[in-house]
Formats: sequence, C-alpha cells, structure tokens
Amino acid sequence: MMNPPKETPQLPIPGYDYGTSSAAISSVSESELLELEQAAGWTPDDAAVLARHADLFRVKAESMVDSWRAVIGAQPHLAHSFVKSDGTSDDAYKASVKRRFVQWVVDVAQRPHDRDWLNYQQEIGLRHVPAKKNKTDGAHTPPVVPFRYILGFIPVVLPIRKFFAEAIEDEAELKRIEDAWTRAVLVHVTLWSRPYVKEDLW
Ligand code: HEM
Repeated sequence: MMNPPKETPQLPIPGYDYGTSSAAISSVSESELLELEQAAGWTPDDAAVLARHADLFRVKAESMVDSWRAVIGAQPHLAHSFVKSDGTSDDAYKASVKRRFVQWVVDVAQRPHDRDWLNYQQEIGLRHVPAKKNKTDGAHTPPVVPFRYILGFIPVVLPIRKFFAEAIEDEAELKRIEDAWTRAVLVHVTLWSRPYVKEDLW
C-alpha cells in the first residue's frame, strides 16, 4: 500500500513571537499607521503586488538575506553587532537571527498590516536596542545596533529585482515589485525606529 503524501513539517522558529503574547505591544495607533503608510506612498496595490509573488519571496528569501549578511560581514563596524566579548563572531546567534530575518522577508510579502503585525514591528525595533537585543537568544554581543546603521543600511536591502529577474521577465512587473518593496521597507524601518526616538518626537 502506498504511504499517504507527507507534509513537510514546518519547525517553529525559535524566538519568532509573531502574534503571541510574548511580542511587545505597539503604541502606534491605526490612524498613525495609515498616515505613515500614506506618507511613504504605500497602497493596497503595493500589498497586492507583493502578495501575488509571495511564493517567489519564500523561495528567494534566504539568498536575499545571505547577500545582505555578506555586506554586514564585510564591515567590522557592522559585524560588531554579532561579536562576543572575546571579539569572535557569535555564530549560533547569527544563525538564530538569520532564520527570523528570512521569515521577515516572507512576512513583508504576505502579512496584513494588522495589530499583530504592528506589535511585531515594535518587537523587532526593541530587538535592535538594549531593551531586547540579545535577550531572545541569550547572546552576549553589544547591546545596541546603532541607529545610524539601521538607516544607513536601507539602500543595501532595496535592490531586489535581481532575485526575481530569472522568474519574471516582465520589466514593468519587476519595477512594481521593487517599488512596493521599497515602500514596505521604509514603513517597517520607520516603525522599528520607534524605540530609538523620544516619545513626543517620533
Ligand atoms: C534596513 C536594515 C535592516 C533590516 C531590514 C533588518 C532586519 C532585521 C530582522 C527582520 C531581524 C530579526 C527580528 C526578529 O527577531 O524577528 C533583525 C535582527 C537583528 N538585526 Fe537587523 N535589520 C536591519 C539593520 C541592521 C543592521 C545595520 C545591523 C547591524 C549592523 C543589524 C543587526 C541585527 C541584529 C544584531 C539582530 C538580532 C537582534 C536580537 O534579537 O538580539 N540589523 N534585523
């Protein structure tokens, strides 16, 4: 008798607290979010563009993250965020964070901008600052990713069409993907900036 087809079990990603009570709570209101999305030019059309290519994002997410990680690894002041107190790279930390980073790429393509999503953006912001950096993995690396590098790194993660060019020949669609991704990244990183910025100045 043939065995029934097996589903590949998706192992949970350690520390990926999306939609759980372990995630932080964002103080950003629905209307502040809408106004921020409007400022960045993010529209439901952008969400639809990313969502219709969610499968491709899933396939390419790891190579995308690997390419960005290579940039961090090549600059000691960036790689510094991943070193232990003895100055050597914390490879277990890097591996654990990488899984959540890959999941983030997939989430950008498919998660609706609802309360769970908003809360997890606050959580990601906190994981770059002393409040929560290192805590998820019990790591002992520097306590903060300096804000200047969060902003400074944005241009590195924007050009994504090269990851899609093989599968998508339509130049206009590639541009739509990259434009939607750009606006999405700006909205995400702006929400992550929340813990770095004084309450009444954000
Ligand atoms: C646009 C720029 C950036 C993006 C899109 C980004 C994205 C992310 C994501 C998605 C995570 C995982 C969040 C989770 O736990 O679910 C993360 C964690 C992390 N990122 Fe960033 N990041 C950016 C900039 C940087 C830079 C420039 C550095 C260092 C130089 C950095 C260092 C880290 C570290 C150390 C963690 C782990 C924090 C912890 O949980 O201890 N990030 N980042």
